[in-house]
Amino acid sequence: MIVRRVRDSAADAAAVREVAWAAFGEPLEGPGRAVRAVRHESRTRHLAQTDPQGCWLAEQDGRAVGAALSLRREGLWLLALYVVDPAVQGRGVGRLLLEHAAGHGRGCLRGMLCASPSPAAARRYRLAGFTLHPAMLLRGQVDRAGLLDPGDIPVHPGGPAQFHLLDSVDRRLRGAARGPDHGFMLAHYEELLVADSLAGSGYCYRDGGGVKALAATSKRIATRLLREALARVPDGTEARVEFLTAEQEWAVDVGLEVGLSLETRGYLGLRGMRPPLPYIPSGAFL
Ligand SMILES: CC(C)(COP(=O)(O)OP(=O)(O)OC[C@H]1O[C@@H](n2cnc3c(N)ncnc32)[C@H](O)[C@@H]1OP(=O)(O)O)[C@@H](O)C(=O)NCCC(=O)NCCS
Repeated sequence: MIVRRVRDSAADAAAVREVAWAAFGEPLEGPGRAVRAVRHESRTRHLAQTDPQGCWLAEQDGRAVGAALSLRREGLWLLALYVVDPAVQGRGVGRLLLEHAAGHGRGCLRGMLCASPSPAAARRYRLAGFTLHPAMLLRGQVDRAGLLDPGDIPVHPGGPAQFHLLDSVDRRLRGAARGPDHGFMLAHYEELLVADSLAGSGYCYRDGGGVKALAATSKRIATRLLREALARVPDGTEARVEFLTAEQEWAVDVGLEVGLSLETRGYLGLRGMRPPLPYIPSGAFL
């Protein structure tokens, strides 16, 4: 078995996606599959360009059997993908991949990852020094009766002109901007929502029913953004807000107000930092 860098190529991006879908049990058919494939492969190529030393592929007999994709943003190391083919799990491939990816984070004081409920992943992350914060998931149909009052803080669709503002918000909250990732997110997610008023600033992305990468300078602004994003989820689409630690009660309260159901799911793994607040990660970190 060899571990090598992921190249910015269609073949490597497809290989990473195939292993990831095998590891997460992605359905072979179904609506949105082609779109998800394009996005997955584009994200791999984006990271292979921005962080070539953070993206690793394990190969056995010329076939991809595992991958780890990580990125470094202003002193924060983030793990975006960590997967091993089920046929070879539990044999140390994951340990090797994580060691390679973590090498890219050497010199970073802080680290962040969104962990699945996998006990094997939790073991690897804790042994790598991450504090595992149990996380909650909100999901369900949005009850619009809970959204009748839009509030007094204006929220509007954003674009590249706001990227500097978004970077400032993230530097304040988590000590690191997203930098080149906003261009990717804007291209692939349905919309960027921005609040910027005397009361404070913040943003989030909405993609179908998913609300992700929310960061704001106050809980009041964060609450307004989350309510607006949920109000824009199309009728009949399941809303989904993931990786909420106990610190994000403001978000849990919004979800309960609009009839979403709450369950536990996975962890937010952090190293060298407390959970940013108010903040909702993007599970894929892009
Ligand atoms: C998480 C994952 C990448 C790890 O890869 P791997 O090749 O299985 O990892 P390793 O074999 O190097 O290490 C797994 C460790 O967990 C342990 N482990 C495996 N199953 C376990 C279980 N059910 N309970 C506790 N420990 C378990 C193994 O013994 C091993 O520990 P050790 O090396 O100290 O003995 C892989 O299991 C995977 O792809 N899982 C599904 C996708 C996923 O959830 N990815 C994580 C996203 S955050």
